Amino acid sequence: MNDEVYVLKIGGSVLTEKGKERTARKGVIKRISKEIALALTARKNLIMVHGAGSYGHPQAKIYQETGKVEDALVTHESAKELNRLVVSSMMELGLKAVPIHPLSGVVSKGGRIRYKIKEQLQLVLKAGIIPVLHGDIILDEKEGFRILSGDQLVVYAAREFKAGKVGVGSDVDGVLSDTGEVIRKITPVEMDTISIKGSEHVDVTGGMKEKVYLLTKLVSENNIPSILFNASKESNVYKFLTDDRDLFGTVIL
Ligand SMILES: Nc1ncnc2c1ncn2[C@@H]1O[C@H](COP(=O)(O)OP(=O)(O)OP(=O)(O)O)[C@@H](O)[C@H]1O
Ligand SMILES: [Mg+2]
Repeated sequence: MNDEVYVLKIGGSVLTEKGKERTARKGVIKRISKEIALALTARKNLIMVHGAGSYGHPQAKIYQETGKVEDALVTHESAKELNRLVVSSMMELGLKAVPIHPLSGVVSKGGRIRYKIKEQLQLVLKAGIIPVLHGDIILDEKEGFRILSGDQLVVYAAREFKAGKVGVGSDVDGVLSDTGEVIRKITPVEMDTISIKGSEHVDVTGGMKEKVYLLTKLVSENNIPSILFNASKESNVYKFLTDDRDLFGTVIL
């Protein structure tokens, strides 16, 4: 068995209908679970992260507007509901998966995030289990609840585990240029010259723009490249996990 850790994020844009509150794409969740199960013989150390999609963004937006603790808690409950669908689907396909809810292990102080889940993740991986993290709200020592995106968790996990491979799946083929073509490679220096928009739907964590920004930081600060690909398209998750060079997307390097 290879000790290298792979970090895979499946976006909320893939698992849910972002325009319809709390609507999961159950068929897609099953298909992706199958692809992971098929690929797992080749890849054992996998940290999985998923976005919150319509189980998190609209709820978190309400919290941002009201600042009420109840609304923050609704966001957490809702994100957990999607996480449960994902973990159950993986288990049904014979995978060993365990939910890791960020609110229970990540805190921040004045916005500076302190993750306290490394040891737990290490043990989960050592036990041959896939930890499944998700976009969530977390508690800040000074400011109450804050939003923690799945994309931020990807960067964290990749850094802590010096990931061998990082894949971020969303509902688009990669980062698109103004003319709608997929930009095949982005380096940190190029980041400023590309115009990237946010999300078409309610997205409290900055959509594609923030995603690319975070991933360019992962390259410049930690020398860990990543690939953005379309996880709504069949076989792409399998291709990522099995190192298939045919995987089409945007490489951040
Ligand atoms: N230049 C761009 N290239 C690609 N996608 C873009 C671009 N600008 C904006 N987008 C939008 O970003 C969306 C993907 O980001 P979004 O945050 O909605 O998905 P996600 O991260 O998978 O979802 P979640 O945040 O719930 O995990 C695409 O659906 C697309 O509409
Ligand atoms: Mg997003």
